[in-house]
Amino acid sequence: MTDSKRSLWLIEKLYNNRSLTLEEYECLVSERNDEAAELLRAYADRVRREIYGTDIFIRGLIEIGNVCKNDCLYCGIRKSNASCERYRLSDEEILHCAVEGYGLGFRTFVLQGGEDAYFTDDRLCSIISQIKERFPDCAVTLSLGERSRESYERLFRAGADRYLLRHETADREHYERLHPEGMSFDNRMKSLAVLKEIGFQVGCGFMVGSPFQTPLTLAKDLKFIEEFSPDMCGIGPFIPHRQTPFGEKAAGTVEETCYLLSIIRLIKPNILLPSTTALGTVNPVGREMGIKAGANVIMPNLSPVSVRKKYELYENKICTGEESAQCIECLKKRMEGIGYTVVCDRGDIKK
Ligand code: 5AD
Ligand code: FES
Repeated sequence: MTDSKRSLWLIEKLYNNRSLTLEEYECLVSERNDEAAELLRAYADRVRREIYGTDIFIRGLIEIGNVCKNDCLYCGIRKSNASCERYRLSDEEILHCAVEGYGLGFRTFVLQGGEDAYFTDDRLCSIISQIKERFPDCAVTLSLGERSRESYERLFRAGADRYLLRHETADREHYERLHPEGMSFDNRMKSLAVLKEIGFQVGCGFMVGSPFQTPLTLAKDLKFIEEFSPDMCGIGPFIPHRQTPFGEKAAGTVEETCYLLSIIRLIKPNILLPSTTALGTVNPVGREMGIKAGANVIMPNLSPVSVRKKYELYENKICTGEESAQCIECLKKRMEGIGYTVVCDRGDIKK
């Protein structure tokens, strides 16, 4: 079989079985071509429409702080970046973002931030329970990195519904090249398992085109997603940040990201899959392309405009000057423009 015939055959197999072997995933990733991408996109769109129609769920992202004790080599808010201007939102500011977001139609709030001891369990539990009390019809998602099992349990009991923790890469050696000594692949994977055990709806994810990534490491990511079966999966292109050790590395592409979004949709048809801000940063219509490739979630920023630019995981991030209301209007139009509809809904996974 020629390479391109083989990828078409693999796509049919994936569509029918929701699964490939590690070797087959590797082959599908390394033999990406326009014809395969188009077939994947068509299948991904079909299975997504069967479950979610043309609905696009929105999540209000509140970047609660950019102080971080970690030093991930790719990340702009790593502790060694002395030129990053640090901030923390107060409890009142966070609540205020949620109030504004509720008025704009958001029914999920995502509290995201670096790993920062300032955000103790007590503080977070108080914020979570205030949001849930005021807006019982909303889901609260946390994206605050690795914490202890006890901490995750307390946050869950306080009312948090979901937790996003990108696994970053399912290959141990690759993980160790992206992170400093002291950060542990095992602890990352353990944390994901613990979050699921506790009862959170869990999201994993990775960057596309991160340094040292190969078709094999990507195949391991896909196999991990197939086996772990997360409710959500966040993927977006790697974008170099000058003030990091990876400042000179190449960025990931929209094409490869969309290809992988389609594959992930076929592995798990009901998964919640965001078309990320990073995708919109590498291409002006990147988020639209992500949606067409099978994504069904967008996460506009609800953080106060005064801190937006400071939460700079990567450079040239979009929507850092827009008020939340402007952003949501813009996104609604963009989604309508390609035949999808932003809905006012918690956007839980359809089982
Ligand atoms: N480019 C793209 N994504 C990044 N992230 C961190 N740094 C970058 C970067 N330079 C992603 C990581 C992290 C998520 C919050 O943002 O995958 O888990
Ligand atoms: Fe933010 Fe368009 S989505 S300005």
